[in-house]
Amino acid sequence: MIVGGSMAAVKAPSVLRRLREGGVQVNVIATRAALAFVTELSLSTAADGPVGTDAAWFSPRPDALHLALARADAAVIVGASAELLAGAAHGHANDLALATLLSVQGPVLWVPAMNNAMWNNRAVGANVARLREWGHHFLGPAVGAFGTRGEGAGIGRMAEPETIAAAVLELLKPTAPRDLDGLHVVVSAGPTREYLDPVRFISNPSSGKMGFAVAEDARDRGARVTLVTGPVNLPEPHGLEVVRIGAALELRDAVIRAAQTADIVVMTAAVADYRAAELKGEKQAKVAGDVSVHLTPNPDILAELGQNKGGRVLVGFAMETHAGVERAAAKAARKNADFILLNYPTQAGTAFGGDDNQVTLVRADGTFEDWPRTSKREVARRLLDEALRVRAQRTAD
Ligand code: C5P
Repeated sequence: MIVGGSMAAVKAPSVLRRLREGGVQVNVIATRAALAFVTELSLSTAADGPVGTDAAWFSPRPDALHLALARADAAVIVGASAELLAGAAHGHANDLALATLLSVQGPVLWVPAMNNAMWNNRAVGANVARLREWGHHFLGPAVGAFGTRGEGAGIGRMAEPETIAAAVLELLKPTAPRDLDGLHVVVSAGPTREYLDPVRFISNPSSGKMGFAVAEDARDRGARVTLVTGPVNLPEPHGLEVVRIGAALELRDAVIRAAQTADIVVMTAAVADYRAAELKGEKQAKVAGDVSVHLTPNPDILAELGQNKGGRVLVGFAMETHAGVERAAAKAARKNADFILLNYPTQAGTAFGGDDNQVTLVRADGTFEDWPRTSKREVARRLLDEALRVRAQRTAD
């Protein structure tokens, strides 16, 4: 636990006690600024051993204190100040807290506490965004009164000690099984853009969230992952190969290439069925009256993969407004996919753009399972479980 220079540092001993009650062994680092708010004595009384301070770090000693402390399974920064966020977001290592953070391998949880105006400052926002992009976790700050004289209400108040302790315990839970170790998973995500002329295109509102969830879950389960994605507005995932494409023809080339070595291919992308028969080189001027565009079909990538399936597990998605299960089963059979996840465009908060999804698993033989509405990440987990079952079945046959 790193304690930062914030008024909320006084709550650190209380977080420490709760963590120790939860069976966690905690080593504490207090920054120079933190020691202006909370005493070394009260921290060391609640912790397992002496408090790591800059004074200790800079005094002659046989070990490299920051490296010893960085062997922790997780780091939590309580009373995280704007200064600590800035230092970490820029790789600074000029005090014990920052040097330790640079070396920590496990998850990092920031629990910020600072004045409203500071938290809303653009520089702080940019640093937080950067750390999030690198996979750091954040808890709060909450809306509420902060400061000793209740200087203001608004965002800025640190999360409560029991909430912080619960979040740390969650981070320390055993990680996902590495049941995809050694496998190559290819995932397509997002929409495609079919340009008509240099400035106009046909597309759809796919957010890419479902495909990103599949890619990230596969990565966390040990797979090598290639994520082929159309234009989406999502943070760059770490630890996987990302290939960015525009049109369906580019998606096809990238997916077919990656699929050569793939064990599982998941086609989540909302591929445009048609493209302009002729791509105009110049912007088309407006004319009086109606215009028509001649469209030609795009290749069906999933069907093409199905024709040359090898040992791969092939998974598709489908969106239907009616006769979903029959149509999805027919589609799976026609494209030689192992199964299709069917979703419905009409439910609020699911499918296009939402964080949840409610799908029906449909196999080519017409059998199906309705899955409950849940997060896209949980749908991804179940999808990959089913893909592994199909793979095991195939090997057994
Ligand atoms: O036929 P339909 O578009 O409903 O099929 C959906 C599934 O097929 C999705 O998995 C989608 O990614 C894939 N697909 C494809 N190539 C296309 C159209 C759809 O791979 N041209």
